[in-house]
Amino acid sequence: MSRLLLRGISRLESNRFLSSLTSFEDKPEQKTRELLDKIIRVDHAGELAADRIYAGQMAVLGRTDVGPTIQHMWDEEKAHLAKFNELIPKYKARPSALLPLWNIAGYALGAGTALLGKEAAMACTVAVEAVISEHYNNQLRDLMEHADHNKDKELIDTIKKFRDDESQHHDIGLANKAEQAPFYQNLTSVIKMGCRLGIYLAERI
Ligand SMILES: [Fe+2]
Ligand SMILES: [Fe+2]
Repeated sequence: MSRLLLRGISRLESNRFLSSLTSFEDKPEQKTRELLDKIIRVDHAGELAADRIYAGQMAVLGRTDVGPTIQHMWDEEKAHLAKFNELIPKYKARPSALLPLWNIAGYALGAGTALLGKEAAMACTVAVEAVISEHYNNQLRDLMEHADHNKDKELIDTIKKFRDDESQHHDIGLANKAEQAPFYQNLTSVIKMGCRLGIYLAERI
């Protein structure tokens, strides 16, 4: 009798164990954890690329009249990158494996457009910052839905602040004659496409 009971209990326990294994993927905490990991990885990679874009622009245009404007945006990108450098270990997030690529691609984009002239550099800023502001807004929507508003307050506030900074950079680009760049429409479309591809990759790799 007691043997039957024990067998019944152990079967119950093993069923419970098996069902906990199979439902693991669907646990909401696991999904939130994956969302936070993805958000911090892609934002860290993006801010590194942004830092490199403005470094490339400064190398070419640092001594021209737009130098101080670019320096101002670069300083803000440095602060953004420093913040995500802090959040990576805090959230135990995995950094993008493609950081060397974002580093080189960012610098090449910044210096390359700056070589086409200051209007093209500003057009690059308009394109990049438009995509990044939109990207931060999408993340804020996801965080509002899935994150813990108390525990993840620092991350939410950080993204809100950076979204506002990026949208200001976008407006600075427009105010500095971005639209007068040669082939403005094509140039910004290509850069926007590249940024969206970069986001897609950095979220995953
Ligand atoms: Fe930034
Ligand atoms: Fe920016």
